[in-house]
Amino acid sequence: MDQSDENWWRHGIFYQIYPRSLQDTNDDGVGDLAGIIQRLPYLKDLGADAIWLSPIYPSPMADFGYDISDYTAIDPLFGTMADFDALLAAAHDNGLKLILDLVPNHTSEQHPWFLESRSSRDNPRRDWYIWRDPRPGGGEPNNWLSEFGGSAWSYDEATGQYYYHAFLAQQPDLNWRNREVREAIYDVMRFWLAKGVDGFRVDVIWHLIKDAEFRDNPPNPYHVAGRPSHETILTRYSTDQPEVHEVIAEMRRVTDAFGARVLIGEIYLPLHRLMAYYGNDLKGAQMPFNFALLSTLWSARSVEKIIEDYEKALPQGAWPNWVLGNHDRPRVASRVGREQARVAAMLLLTLRGTPTLYYGDEIGMHQVAIAPEAVRDPFEKNVPGIGVGRDGCRTPMQWDSTRYAGFSSVPPWLPLADDFMRENVVNLQSDETSILNLYKALIRLRKECKPLAIGSYVPIAAEGDLLLYRREAQGQSVVVALNLGAEPVAVTAGAIGSGSEILLSTFLDRKGEKLEGTLDLRGNEGAIIAPPH
Ligand code: NOJ
Repeated sequence: MDQSDENWWRHGIFYQIYPRSLQDTNDDGVGDLAGIIQRLPYLKDLGADAIWLSPIYPSPMADFGYDISDYTAIDPLFGTMADFDALLAAAHDNGLKLILDLVPNHTSEQHPWFLESRSSRDNPRRDWYIWRDPRPGGGEPNNWLSEFGGSAWSYDEATGQYYYHAFLAQQPDLNWRNREVREAIYDVMRFWLAKGVDGFRVDVIWHLIKDAEFRDNPPNPYHVAGRPSHETILTRYSTDQPEVHEVIAEMRRVTDAFGARVLIGEIYLPLHRLMAYYGNDLKGAQMPFNFALLSTLWSARSVEKIIEDYEKALPQGAWPNWVLGNHDRPRVASRVGREQARVAAMLLLTLRGTPTLYYGDEIGMHQVAIAPEAVRDPFEKNVPGIGVGRDGCRTPMQWDSTRYAGFSSVPPWLPLADDFMRENVVNLQSDETSILNLYKALIRLRKECKPLAIGSYVPIAAEGDLLLYRREAQGQSVVVALNLGAEPVAVTAGAIGSGSEILLSTFLDRKGEKLEGTLDLRGNEGAIIAPPH
């Protein structure tokens, strides 16, 4: 990638690291910054262009770093500021951009701002958080619910008011209607940007502003039995308020002042609401994360519909992006199955728009079952037994077949997958047809092939298990054919002209094969085809 390129984030491959789980170097069972430095050559070899780190700041770890007690320091668990500076320099030396997680919606209850805020009603920082009187007659100020279970309001005995927390009680929400709060967080952003970080992934950006009147949320008529209780009400008044876009435009001005940086927004919203996060004149987030693939039904028609709806909804000039996994959702290999994980990889890396990979997906890591006594995730602890736990997708990276998978020399903070002796980087690297080598080949091809990197997306067909589309740029094109089922499919569409050639099959065994007007896909196979010369 051309590092001076203003639009590097459009051309790059993003890779999310969950720092606790990539590589431990100080024998405490938890990953650290020195470990990330150690693994940069692997990431470069894979073909990543940018890495995003989940939070590395000082934190009581009630929500594993998403509860921050100091925004401009490094938690000793991960290392020191000197380690961070070394990581940033090493990433840049390797041609990798570094993106940090910014968590502006809430702090830790241990953050000095909150300690001050809760100390008395007339503390100057009282209004930095969201304090409300009890309802007349007593009780929570309204019916808003915490995403991690129970009411979103906690009562503070000493001052006789409730504070709001969209997540844990240990994660009080900041009051983004307060100008000082905004400036304080913008200063945090400037601190890291001045060091040279290349952008931020902004945690729950659609949560920042709440209804000024704190109206009750309406019931959710579509609540599904067995789903978490916070889904019994909609979040009409507690998230996605119009004024949030003014805040995001301000954040964008902060990043833009430092040159070619990127602002990524974490947003779980329906398409028509998501698009607003590109901002007026595209001056909002450059990449409002597109999570559509995380929850789609794995069928050709559903996936095609998602792509088409998303492509159609994009504002003029907005750049698309796609995500297949993250630290909050079950692993893709478990969602779609081991065989289809390869097809999913081909989909992700042949769609129009920046792909974000989640660590370990490139070696086919699956969801790990966590025994009740090993559970670490507060969501699972608060709302047990219905499958919301996130530990299973956060298990240690599987590097080799040694005792702790080359991740650590001591038992890791979460259990390793039981198949790590076989499914690990060292083994998969030497297996020419492994999923890891598929990821590498896909990334390489995407970089070499203009239609895949920047071309338009043209749907061709979605019939049965077959998903077929074309990518076109500057008079060149390729066709992508994905078999989302286990049975063979013959593709005879006009798209496969006689003399077409297979550039890549997900099985990595058909490169250069010439086609005579038909493409016979095996079960669970995807292929990228070049038209006849
Ligand atoms: C979204 C993060 O991705 C998730 O891990 C976290 O628990 C919540 N935000 C609260 O910060």
